[in-house]
Amino acid sequence: MNDKQLVAQEAVNTVKQGMVIGLGTGSTANYFIEALAQRQNEENLQITTISSSIISYIKAKQSGLPILGIEQLSHLDLYVDGADEVSPDGTLLKGRGSDLVKEKILAKASQQFLVLVDQSKLVSHIGEKFPIPIEVMPFAWQLVKNNLEEIGGNAELRLNANKDNVAFTAHGSLVLDITFDADISSSELNEHLNELPGVVEHGIFINLASTILIGKDGKIEQKTMK
Ligand code: 5RP
Repeated sequence: MNDKQLVAQEAVNTVKQGMVIGLGTGSTANYFIEALAQRQNEENLQITTISSSIISYIKAKQSGLPILGIEQLSHLDLYVDGADEVSPDGTLLKGRGSDLVKEKILAKASQQFLVLVDQSKLVSHIGEKFPIPIEVMPFAWQLVKNNLEEIGGNAELRLNANKDNVAFTAHGSLVLDITFDADISSSELNEHLNELPGVVEHGIFINLASTILIGKDGKIEQKTMK
């Protein structure tokens, strides 16, 4: 079992009868979905799930998990997802997979947001390893790019895998991937992006994680954030 599988299994052990559970997106979230489906079958667990993306919807459906649409959600006990980066204060970078809009909605709506990572995701500051993804309304991308460059960012419009067209998210947005030479904190950038017209959502997740499980060489470290 690798470290991502290890933390996914640990997360599944926290699930209780009757829970409504949000399913994240990515390889670690997939391990969680598989392990959850296995526990459901073995223990006849009565649970409901909500997916953060089409791909996790398909995975959950194929695994036999009962799944609701996000519009039917009245409360969410638990949201479980991976992250691209985790800083020492528990701020996350997410969204390399272009599904960050629903991910942030579910993270915010949940009673408990359980983040599953291996140690490769730990960074000293957000943006250390990956650019920060920003979903923008298609007609606003140039204005948002200009604005971010004015505050010291380098913004690249994300292209598709073949690099012959722009990449569209599940919601039809474009993505600007930004890096910063200038010294700007993730909380300053979070505030700036939250107030910038044309930005649909962005990949900085501040004060959302309740618990972070970190897989390190076959062991689990738990950080309780709130
Ligand atoms: C998708 C995400 C993922 O959680 C993040 O990319 C981590 O992926 P993985 O579990 O495959 O390492 O934010 O939008």
